[in-house]
Amino acid sequence: MTLSKKPYKGCRDFFPKEMRERNFLFDAMKSAAESFAYEPFDGPMVEEVELYKAKSGEELINEQIYEFTDRGGRHVAIRPEMTPTVARMVAQIAKQASKPIRWYSIPNLMRYEKPQRGRLREHWQFNVDIFGAPQYLGEIEVLSVVSQLMESFGADKEMFGIQINDREIVDFIFNEVIKVDAQKSYRLYKIIDKSKKVDRQALEKMTSEVLEDASQQKLFYSYLELTSFEKLVTFLKEHSYPELTAFESFVQKLKNSQAWQYTEYDPAIVRGLDYYTGVVFEVFDKHPDNKRAIAGGGAYANLLQIFNEPALGGIGFGMGDVTLKDFLISHNLMPKLDTAQNDVFLTYMDEQGENLAMTTAHNLRKAGLKVETNLGVMKFKKLFKTAESKGHTNVAIIGEDEIKNSSVTLKNLQERKQETFSVDDIESITNFLKQG
Ligand code: HAM
Repeated sequence: MTLSKKPYKGCRDFFPKEMRERNFLFDAMKSAAESFAYEPFDGPMVEEVELYKAKSGEELINEQIYEFTDRGGRHVAIRPEMTPTVARMVAQIAKQASKPIRWYSIPNLMRYEKPQRGRLREHWQFNVDIFGAPQYLGEIEVLSVVSQLMESFGADKEMFGIQINDREIVDFIFNEVIKVDAQKSYRLYKIIDKSKKVDRQALEKMTSEVLEDASQQKLFYSYLELTSFEKLVTFLKEHSYPELTAFESFVQKLKNSQAWQYTEYDPAIVRGLDYYTGVVFEVFDKHPDNKRAIAGGGAYANLLQIFNEPALGGIGFGMGDVTLKDFLISHNLMPKLDTAQNDVFLTYMDEQGENLAMTTAHNLRKAGLKVETNLGVMKFKKLFKTAESKGHTNVAIIGEDEIKNSSVTLKNLQERKQETFSVDDIESITNFLKQG
């Protein structure tokens, strides 16, 4: 049997070019999170399957999870998301930690999905979560982190938006306005979550299976037509929503925030995961080729209670590397990272130069430079071609004269500039290479 060279379905091999691109995304994610003082954390790749069953929701558990029984008979799963893990870890330290707790991570996750544009079986997901923040300030902060990250790539409001909703409001509308029980309310959530992916006819069919009463259906559809914060507030006033003042204060804080220019109210955003309890949101791509959310998140007040810990509210989001990269490529925001980024390609012209070349390379590396050496003699004719194909701007040459004088000749291939320095003059060599 011949083994396939391809990776497992829906997973990717990261060759150095893809790794450079991934690092570019991860570096931007880290800087955005750290600029808001979030600290990195990590957790295990495998968790007890019960951790996800507790709150993640049917779709993830019934259709997407990779689960198996380990050799010790434990029923485990490869992590399909990071939120249950972060909640489990926070539950261990919640009592003694000073609040709010701000953490981020970039784990790889596995979900058994049909691979397609924006969806794979393995993806990396930037997770940013805050625990124990005062009401609405945590929401505003994580929305600011995501806005800052998008801005750091050069993205603007023509390219992406943030759709927001509040599950407390949706609960109120279902329970108090449409007046359905908990089971029907759960089914309405699932209909809303699918509402954008189906046509009107299919929506009406699904709705009539849950709501027999025409007046209830009418209220449900009028809710789905509330496509701005103003319309929503008017609707809530008409139906005497008891938390209106608090919600209006959230909208006011949002208006004053970095995120406001990107946000819009969207009644169809409720999120597929069951643990969300308050504000929920999705970052969406305005490019017609990209139909998948770039990021999604929200507030979850009760996740720590599954560990018998007192409630400590969390708010956060997850952003996938696949959808983010599609976004950056579609909007021409992805830099070209075809070649490695090293400072210099150092070569010697004959055997006697080898020692000097190796010590010089060593000293330059100690000074923090990235130095590639040619292992073996390399003649002029081949040198420039090789250097260019490897993406070097600078070459350092040790030839006959250089051996005699303990020097090195540097050449900047783009500017066609050349200078010779003593091998001990690391400062001048560094300046030449860094200015190049
Ligand atoms: P999620 O909406 O399931 O949320 O995933 C968040 C993001 O991860 C999506 O918007 C998408 O960019 C990416 N993503 C999800 N599944 C895939 C896939 N199969 N292939 C490629 N990308 C994917 C969560 O996972 C929540 N735990 C996020 C969160 C953190 N909520 C609070 N804190």
